[in-house]
Amino acid sequence: MKSVASLSAAVAVLSGTTNAFWRMPCHDRIGLERLDPIVDPGTASSHGHTIHGGSNFGMSTTYEDLRASDCTSCQFSDDKSAYWTPSLHFVHDGGMTEIVPQIGGMLSYYLLYGDNLKAFPEGFQMLAGDTRLRNFSGPVPDPPTSSWTADDMTQVSLGQKSLGFNCLNYNKQPEGSRYRHFLPTKEFMDENCANGIRAELMFPSCWNGKDVKSDDNKAHMRYPDMIDGGSCPEGFETRLPTLFYETIWNTFAFKDKAGQFVWSNGDPTGYGYHGDFMSGWNVDTLQSAVSTCTNPSGRVEDCPVFAGSLQTEAEQGVCKIQNVMKALSADNCSGPTDGLCGNVPVQYGPQYANPLKAGAQGGEAVITPILSSVASMPTQSYAPAHSKVVDSYGGGVSVFNVKPPVVPIAKPTPALAEAAVAAPAITPPAKAEDANPDDGIISHTTYTRDGVVYEVAIKEVINIVTVDSKRRRHAHQHRRNIGRN
Ligand SMILES: *[C@@H]1O[C@H](CO)[C@@H](O)[C@H](O)[C@H]1NC(C)=O
Ligand SMILES: *[C@@H]1O[C@H](CO)[C@@H](O)[C@H](O)[C@H]1NC(C)=O
Repeated sequence: MKSVASLSAAVAVLSGTTNAFWRMPCHDRIGLERLDPIVDPGTASSHGHTIHGGSNFGMSTTYEDLRASDCTSCQFSDDKSAYWTPSLHFVHDGGMTEIVPQIGGMLSYYLLYGDNLKAFPEGFQMLAGDTRLRNFSGPVPDPPTSSWTADDMTQVSLGQKSLGFNCLNYNKQPEGSRYRHFLPTKEFMDENCANGIRAELMFPSCWNGKDVKSDDNKAHMRYPDMIDGGSCPEGFETRLPTLFYETIWNTFAFKDKAGQFVWSNGDPTGYGYHGDFMSGWNVDTLQSAVSTCTNPSGRVEDCPVFAGSLQTEAEQGVCKIQNVMKALSADNCSGPTDGLCGNVPVQYGPQYANPLKAGAQGGEAVITPILSSVASMPTQSYAPAHSKVVDSYGGGVSVFNVKPPVVPIAKPTPALAEAAVAAPAITPPAKAEDANPDDGIISHTTYTRDGVVYEVAIKEVINIVTVDSKRRRHAHQHRRNIGRN
């Protein structure tokens, strides 16, 4: 038997100097359209998006246009920003495709990590994620943040880990945020995710301090080395708010129906999930909010900056895109219809997907035969976050990277065999002693809206408990980790 000589010390240390945040609910989408003014400006976007925020949104939207929006679908009436991501669709056997019901619009978290936070400047826009990605190069699941190596912290690797698909089941302990970086199989969702799937996306927050945009919408930004917390690379030291999007899709509505889920960009894997942001804030207002909205509840109701300008859900719900574009009149992105709008083909990967063409498209819908609902993906079993109450506002602790991985079931059908050769690398299960349940603990809060429970990590907490001699090394790693933050 292992000797546990134990000194136990419950030490909780916050990493970083601030851990405040608020979440901006956007109760409804303003449209489901092939629009993306930052990636495909001036034309129809290659694929459909679920769009939230300022109503004056279109193919060539500018900051001034957004500011001039008649309304916003977000709770604070003067946040005219635009927030958009791909939408999730269900492809029935035979190709008939329909939108998966979206529950409760979206939440945009403004996580206030780092020092001397600056508001998004006028004209600021950025993109997170890569629509053409169809694979994941890191170990599954993520190693504990305390043991991340340089390989885990390249911008490509951080980007791949910045997104997550949380299997929702409100009768179970919630999974941790960004625990799983791919869309689980339909079978898995039917069995486990009674409340659907929550798509999660963390944006980079380290800015080069001068460019409000860049050609690829990414070059002016970097992730800090812990994705949310951590330090910024050289040349990108200006810290902006860390945006974190959550969008819930009711995949369970298709339980027992034959078919598969696919994102609007033709991605059935989830690796190509991405999100766009165009600031529509008055800069002074956002700066005040960033500096003063530090109530740990994260509720916009609890921040004086937003007082008197909060909309009801009904008010948010009536806000829609002001000008419906002729070029898009032939589109029907919600369906049921044949295929995806924009005639987007489904691309399984694992190789980098072919680029999609922007612009209005005629012609036949691309009906991609369903090869399999298992696109050579790893599996990660439902992994409840370790939950501990650590704060006075009812938050728990969400740990998402301590469970030894379940060995993947890569069961390609014959048709898929060729595409399946390069399933993501899977590391052997972590040794028990490495699976310190306190590694990478992050706290989260929950709140309920429309019967939907939302929760998110808001800060990293290092909690060292019952350290035996073998684990002390871990404790040191944690301390180094704190130092870096
Ligand atoms: C899309 O097509 C479906 C099926 O024909 C129809 O019920 C729905 O109203 C259409 N939606 C739009 C926005 O045209
Ligand atoms: C995975 O994606 C990357 C980035 O697009 C690509 O370079 C690589 O070839 C892909 N891996 C495989 C096995 O296709």
